[in-house]
Amino acid sequence: MNVFRSPLRCAVFGASGGIGAALAMALAARDEVSEVHAGSRSGAALHSAKVHPFAFDLTDEASIAKACAAIGATLDIVIVATGRLTRADGSGPEKSWRALSGAGMAELFAINTIGPALIAKYTLPLLRRDDRAVFAALSARVGSISDNRLGGWHGYRASKAALNMLVKNIALELARTHPQALAVTLHPGTVDTALSAPFQRGVSPGKLFTPEISAAALLAVLDGLRPQHSGGLFAWDGAEVPF
Ligand SMILES: NC(=O)c1ccc[n+]([C@@H]2O[C@H](COP(=O)([O-])OP(=O)(O)OC[C@H]3O[C@@H](n4cnc5c(N)ncnc54)[C@H](OP(=O)(O)O)[C@@H]3O)[C@@H](O)[C@H]2O)c1
Repeated sequence: MNVFRSPLRCAVFGASGGIGAALAMALAARDEVSEVHAGSRSGAALHSAKVHPFAFDLTDEASIAKACAAIGATLDIVIVATGRLTRADGSGPEKSWRALSGAGMAELFAINTIGPALIAKYTLPLLRRDDRAVFAALSARVGSISDNRLGGWHGYRASKAALNMLVKNIALELARTHPQALAVTLHPGTVDTALSAPFQRGVSPGKLFTPEISAAALLAVLDGLRPQHSGGLFAWDGAEVPF
């Protein structure tokens, strides 16, 4: 169902990732979408005439500012599909507080919390004001504090909980200038990507989604959300996850 006015300009940050690439291609396949700006560290292209690649790094604010200036207004949909579960050296996630390290937590917060917040800083001014607009960042159910019954994965959980808070804050502020807009976080399910590959043992095949299935589900969820849902964390099946 197209709940937007056509044609739509979209931006996906993290288009080299499993879910991000699937989201960019699923958006490009929609008739109402005219262009998808697809960002990654390498700036690599995706195979669609509607997809325009760009380069950025979450840890380099100037690169985000430059990319957003080049994309320009007006944007209808912004999706942040970046994220890290393990450190760049492959270690983690922490199973115990004994494994905590300042450098490890700083690394995950830089990627999972601060980077997406900086993307919001430079994309929210580009969002359409006179019609529906969406800012969505991929978070994780494990970032829900009230849903946490297992513990572990300290840096990842905490960085996603902080992301959920930042997007809630952004939603409240955005509503003042963009009454038809929404800013949400999304839980994509357990998805077969590089991020989850080392942790898929024990996940039953029916519960491990392809990136394409997850992307289609997430776009359907976004289609169904209204401004009153802004600020929330929503799972792939449309259920709101309590913070
Ligand atoms: N897969 C799951 O089961 C699952 C479950 C719950 C939540 N999630 C969340 O879903 C999101 C997408 O995950 P995924 O499974 O698609 O992971 P993925 O395939 O590993 O993709 C991660 C993306 O993040 C980008 N990224 C990492 N560091 C970056 C940096 N410094 N600057 C710019 N981009 C950077 C990667 O770009 P490069 O290619 O340049 O490294 C890549 O595009 C994440 O937020 C993740 O936490 C995933």
